Amino acid sequence: MPLAKSAAALPLDMPRSGAPFLSLAPMDGVTDAITRALLTDYAGGDSGISLCTSEFVRVTREPVPEKVLLRHCPELRQGGRTSAGVPVTVQLLGGDPAPMAESARRAAALGAPGIDLNFGCPAKTVNRHDGGATLLKFPGRLRAIVQAVRDLVPAERPVSVKLRTGWASSERMEEIALAAEAGGASWLTIHGRTRMDMYGPPADFGPIGRARAVVAIPVVANGDLSTPRQVDRCRAISGCEAYMIGRPAMARPWLFRQLRGHPPDGRAAYIALLLDFADRLIAAGTTDHRTLGRLKNWLSLSCRIEPAFRSLFDAVKREQHLPALLKVLVAAARDKGGNDPVSGRFEPVHGP
Ligand SMILES: Cc1cc2nc3c(=O)[nH]c(=O)nc-3n(C[C@H](O)[C@H](O)[C@H](O)COP(=O)(O)O)c2cc1C
Repeated sequence: MPLAKSAAALPLDMPRSGAPFLSLAPMDGVTDAITRALLTDYAGGDSGISLCTSEFVRVTREPVPEKVLLRHCPELRQGGRTSAGVPVTVQLLGGDPAPMAESARRAAALGAPGIDLNFGCPAKTVNRHDGGATLLKFPGRLRAIVQAVRDLVPAERPVSVKLRTGWASSERMEEIALAAEAGGASWLTIHGRTRMDMYGPPADFGPIGRARAVVAIPVVANGDLSTPRQVDRCRAISGCEAYMIGRPAMARPWLFRQLRGHPPDGRAAYIALLLDFADRLIAAGTTDHRTLGRLKNWLSLSCRIEPAFRSLFDAVKREQHLPALLKVLVAAARDKGGNDPVSGRFEPVHGP
């Protein structure tokens, strides 16, 4: 397939344009192109997801080769969109402005509808090598990276920035947000935890609201938005009208639709999604062993959000063979007694 050199650019203030903006969070090792297609195909392609972002692409001293960008974001071969037509921005992570900017330019030339910059990753190896949340300690450097990227990416393509609320505290939230804006960020997505919080305490939407109050660009709130009630709470505290959803999307793939006024689905839809996931992994040539691992990981992450799926995870977590796990899922799908709607009745359970 020829490379799409001229994918339609996204509106520069996309989180502010039109209907509620609900993006799918990038999750390394989870939201690869197969998962992005799976979740955006939900409900016949009417998933409610406004935007996806690739898993982070690590940029070190050299700009990233095109083949690496295409591996992380194969949607670049189809105009930078999932099969359901949802745009996918390419996320870059690194601390050196020049290779970050050149990598972004290459991604845009390949057809990325936008670039996202990761200043939130809390992984020790990443932080030790001057990437992710480390830059929250140096707002001046963060600004320089955003600016260098902005300068090399065509003006009509957004450059968004993903942040945590700070390194050890949210004291410098406003300064960080203003630095990203001054560098030319089109919008900010803020995960309501500091780097030191990792995924531990509940997300704090207060600092997100403080950032929103000082910048003119849109701010997208993120963290533990697992029920409509939790989104309402986030809106009341932060004032944000745009949201990013990660782990809750795995437990409640209907959440994006639910936030747009559709009734929630339930256990049967969840199991059907998992079986569809298995089919897609196998069709893409994934080994049985890896497919087994991906399904268990999905179940494990989602039963922390939705306790009703705990028994399903418990039933499969020791399975060593894919056919046995699939058998359990098929049986669970047939079990009408267990076909209860589950969405929205539980408050989030924190920490991975
Ligand atoms: C397994 C995992 C991988 C993640 N990988 C990324 C990543 O590649 N880029 C990024 O910006 N954030 C990453 N995150 C953070 C999420 O995008 C999001 O900010 C965080 O999970 C909080 O949102 P949630 O409560 O809706 O999941 C990751 C989170 C998890 C749990």
